[in-house]
Amino acid sequence: MTSDSARILVVEDNDTLRRGITIALRERWDDVREVASGDDAVECISDSHSNAFDVIVTDLRLPGCDGVSVLRAARERDPGTSVLVMTAYGSIETAVEAMRSGAFDFVQKPLDLDQLELRVARGVDHRRLLYEVTELRAEQAARQASEQIIGNSLALRSALDLAKRVAPTRSTVLITGETGTGKELIAGLIHRTSPRADGPLVKVNCAALPETLLESELFGHERGAFTGADRQRIGRFEEANGGTLFLDEVGDTSNATQAKLLRVLQERRFHRLGGSTLLRTDARIISATNQDLGARIEEGLFREDLYFRLNVIRIHLPPLRERSEDLVDLAHHFLRELSTEMSHSIRGFTEAALAKIRSHDWPGNVRELHNTLERAVLMAEGPRIDAEDLSILAGRSAGGGRSWRRELPAEGISLRDVERELVIEALERTGYVQKDAAKLIGVSRRKLNYMIQKMGITHSAWRRNRDLESAGG
Ligand SMILES: Nc1ncnc2c1ncn2[C@@H]1O[C@H](COP(=O)(O)OP(=O)(O)OP(=O)(O)O)[C@@H](O)[C@H]1O
Ligand SMILES: [Mg+2]
Repeated sequence: MTSDSARILVVEDNDTLRRGITIALRERWDDVREVASGDDAVECISDSHSNAFDVIVTDLRLPGCDGVSVLRAARERDPGTSVLVMTAYGSIETAVEAMRSGAFDFVQKPLDLDQLELRVARGVDHRRLLYEVTELRAEQAARQASEQIIGNSLALRSALDLAKRVAPTRSTVLITGETGTGKELIAGLIHRTSPRADGPLVKVNCAALPETLLESELFGHERGAFTGADRQRIGRFEEANGGTLFLDEVGDTSNATQAKLLRVLQERRFHRLGGSTLLRTDARIISATNQDLGARIEEGLFREDLYFRLNVIRIHLPPLRERSEDLVDLAHHFLRELSTEMSHSIRGFTEAALAKIRSHDWPGNVRELHNTLERAVLMAEGPRIDAEDLSILAGRSAGGGRSWRRELPAEGISLRDVERELVIEALERTGYVQKDAAKLIGVSRRKLNYMIQKMGITHSAWRRNRDLESAGG
């Protein structure tokens, strides 16, 4: 008999039987592991340091968690694993149930070892076929996906190359870059070209939710966990099982949330809010931020240990102004796309328009370019986009900021005081609505909230709300 390469796990509490099966299977396959309980099996299966098993042979009735839980853990880790269940003679219903829950095949006890070997071999083949199909599909998806990602700069090509190389693995990825540089696009590419492509891609915008909601969003909650939790809710970590969890704007999370994130990333287990059961997650984590995390760490706003967990593989997307080749390619691409979409046939750009595009700073990067061109196509009267169709770019100085009237006093001034004065002015002008004030000075709500706390700014309206919140539990 030839030795074949396949990873096999045997789960059986009866020592003699387990040894017998293992020895028989080792004659043909070189990597056969054996464990005597369901708990040990689940642990082996979920061990993210080794590859998933190709075939698992498991008894249904086991000490610790039973065969169905083993089956579930196996499918969670990798839906392509072929799970073969062994059932006692006469208990055909349980076998049927196991098949329904996704078992590949079943054998009845007392065992015929030749029969068993035959079925394991079929399981190995099945797995291999599935694998080949997914590989082919991933290749195709990669081709399609990168066709939609425009640009040929070295920076973009190396980002894409890295994305392709990490896609097949489970490694945690951190994508950095200014707003609108394509971070979400890359996250999508990684997911679609990964073996998890058929699983969910779950996105959470960490900056968009207030801290209290963010936790329940991530981890879910039990009914009655807090006022207003009138039913159980599945969190994003749970939802992303078998798939990818995209933590967007992760640099904007609060300290408390960071601590909780760190724990799940370390232990791969978590509780729903108000729940006591430990749940597992096997979600692949991709996070993104437009913050300078190094600076945030220095300011004490971001945990260094969480940073190390997230920053396993780092993909950085430089701003568009540093990728002038991409800028021009993208401009032409968007122009073609938009003129078809808007049925306004425009042949290209005038030299003046191109010069204007090249000299603009693009603080909003690719998104800004797209929006600018959308407007230009709408405005254009000639067969080409001209500089004046891009008038939207004129109002801004290079650097993208609005002009600033105040003068630096000769004796100097503390930047901190200026900041504080501005924050207060923005708050006053918006009636102390933090969301609006944040928008006015171009920071996230969370950042403004942090500044307010650090500067010790208070307002009666806020204190009332906080008192209400803590009184309500
Ligand atoms: N290289 C590219 N080719 C084609 N389209 C791109 C490219 N880069 C970005 N885009 C498009 O630009 C827009 C912004 O990209 P995306 O949402 O991925 O940016 P982001 O980095 O996540 O931004 P933010 O930090 O604001 O969330 C999207 O519509 C995206 O499809
Ligand atoms: Mg984004």
